[in-house]
Amino acid sequence: MRKTLSIFFVSMVSSALVFSAQAAEKGKGSIKKSEYGKTPDGKAVDLYTLTNAKGMVAKLITYGAICTELHTPDRNGKLGDIVLGFDNLQQFQGEHPYFGSTIGRVANRIAKGKFTLEGKNYTLAVNNGPNSLHGGLKGFNRVLWKAEPREAKDSVAVKFSYLSPNGEEGYPGNLTVTVTYILTDKNELKIEYTASTDRTTILNLTHHGYFNLAGEGDILGHQMTLAADRFTPVDDTLIPTGELAKVKGTPMDFTKPMAIGSRIGQLTNDPRGYDHNYVLNKGDKKLGFALRVYEPKSGRQMELYTTEPGLQFYTGNFLDGSLKGKYGVIYKKHFGFCVEADHFPDSIHHPNFPSIVLKPGEKYQQTTIHKFSAH
Ligand code: BGC
Repeated sequence: MRKTLSIFFVSMVSSALVFSAQAAEKGKGSIKKSEYGKTPDGKAVDLYTLTNAKGMVAKLITYGAICTELHTPDRNGKLGDIVLGFDNLQQFQGEHPYFGSTIGRVANRIAKGKFTLEGKNYTLAVNNGPNSLHGGLKGFNRVLWKAEPREAKDSVAVKFSYLSPNGEEGYPGNLTVTVTYILTDKNELKIEYTASTDRTTILNLTHHGYFNLAGEGDILGHQMTLAADRFTPVDDTLIPTGELAKVKGTPMDFTKPMAIGSRIGQLTNDPRGYDHNYVLNKGDKKLGFALRVYEPKSGRQMELYTTEPGLQFYTGNFLDGSLKGKYGVIYKKHFGFCVEADHFPDSIHHPNFPSIVLKPGEKYQQTTIHKFSAH
């Protein structure tokens, strides 16, 4: 009886959830749409489950264009979820440090939440010490995106789009923005962004996934190679001084593979850990290699390629055990790392940094590829 009941229950749940499933043919990717929850004002939030031909899975929700789960194989082919996050909408709507989120309009900090553009002064919400962080109080991680599934011969994807009205969170211009997550059959998660505006504005989009290639514990034993000879030192509110300093001879140097934790104790910031923007050697605009992270126990490896000039490397220093995530895991310090490909923090106040100004008639484009393998 119990068995019959549970079979009945499982089939009820799956038929209710699977909206536009492709036949899960062997060797072919699939896209499933299901209900994830409702916002407090009653709007439906959808979950898209992308599965590629090799069985790798990415789950994405229309709230915040957030990647909630990412399952990649270890060296024995066993899938594991390698990103931090929650298993319910309520927690994603509550306070959390941008798990899996799409960040906009401007990633990282703008000093004092103020900037001047074409002679006009703009004021943003100050939500991080004296500065504005990650788009303000209701950034792109807290808005509802429209979603469109997309299939190609060797990939499955979901394209999110959003119209950010002029003045939203203090930023000028009606901004049309899209972010497309493409899961290829080569085990790549490709994130493509586009945007255009009707008034001069500033824009710096990124993805704020917290990775843990072991799927558990801290990330200090992960080995990283980061193709950056320079970084942008910051003041004690994490605003760049403007200098492009050399990493050579410092704990910032990952030009050769090094365990993330090998020199973390030599850093002096509080809470201690990496939270720094690197100047990628590949330069601006062209798609190129940024980093490789290898986790020895599972054999999982992630490589990152981007069109962006910078990369914020953050070792989850502010995780303090107060959040319980998926699978009941308590997220402690250094349980995940972020590799946010973008322009440099506070670029609008630093004429020597690549510009984040977007003008009417221009097209903002970014591509960042996370390539997964195991050995
Ligand atoms: C920032 C950190 C911040 C974290 C979560 C990162 O991009 O560099 O300083 O704590 O996001 O908010």
